[in-house]
Amino acid sequence: MYERRDKFYEKAKKAGYRARSSYKLIEIQTKYNLIKSGDVVLDIGCAPGSWLQVVKKYTRGKIFGVDIVPMKKISGVKFIQEDVRKVKFDAKFDVVISDIAPKTTGSREEDQFLSYELSRESFLVAKKNLKKKGNFVVKTFQSQDTEELVKEMKPFFEFVKRYVPKSTRQSSKELYIVALGFK
Ligand SMILES: C[S@@+](CC[C@H](N)C(=O)[O-])C[C@H]1O[C@@H](n2cnc3c(N)ncnc32)[C@H](O)[C@@H]1O
Repeated sequence: MYERRDKFYEKAKKAGYRARSSYKLIEIQTKYNLIKSGDVVLDIGCAPGSWLQVVKKYTRGKIFGVDIVPMKKISGVKFIQEDVRKVKFDAKFDVVISDIAPKTTGSREEDQFLSYELSRESFLVAKKNLKKKGNFVVKTFQSQDTEELVKEMKPFFEFVKRYVPKSTRQSSKELYIVALGFK
């Protein structure tokens, strides 16, 4: 994964996290109390695994991760190497988190659309597999489609909000949609 050196990169490295994106999940967790002890969690687009490392600190429940690319083992995590669009999950989850991102093409519009599709796919997985009152977070590249996705998600949760963690690079156009209390 591409990692430009900055404050969060150095912090993550020192703390033993596999990527600086760990701090984005820590910020989301601190603000929204997303994951509770005992929760069963699914992480979509989990490689190289820094979000999973963070999840392990907050729950003693089962943890699942899925990604197309291989990932170095994390103890206590069931990793599935597969395209999320093809996986059938048997389990039900208290929390679904998705930091999924497409391979960028260089065309901003195309990247935005690919990101929208993957984020929406993550939402469909959450809709199918979340337990009642469950929580969901998904990354997406900001575009007009972001509004469509937020609108589509709203009826299914008690609370839906866009959130940009401070550890997101200033140049980045990504944001997270935080959805709490699955109905
Ligand atoms: C930004 S990285 C995730 C970083 C991770 N949250 C961490 O902290 O280590 C995005 C991931 O989404 C994965 N991804 C992209 N398309 C996918 C798909 N269709 N199914 C599963 N994973 C996918 C990529 O392979 C990549 O590893």
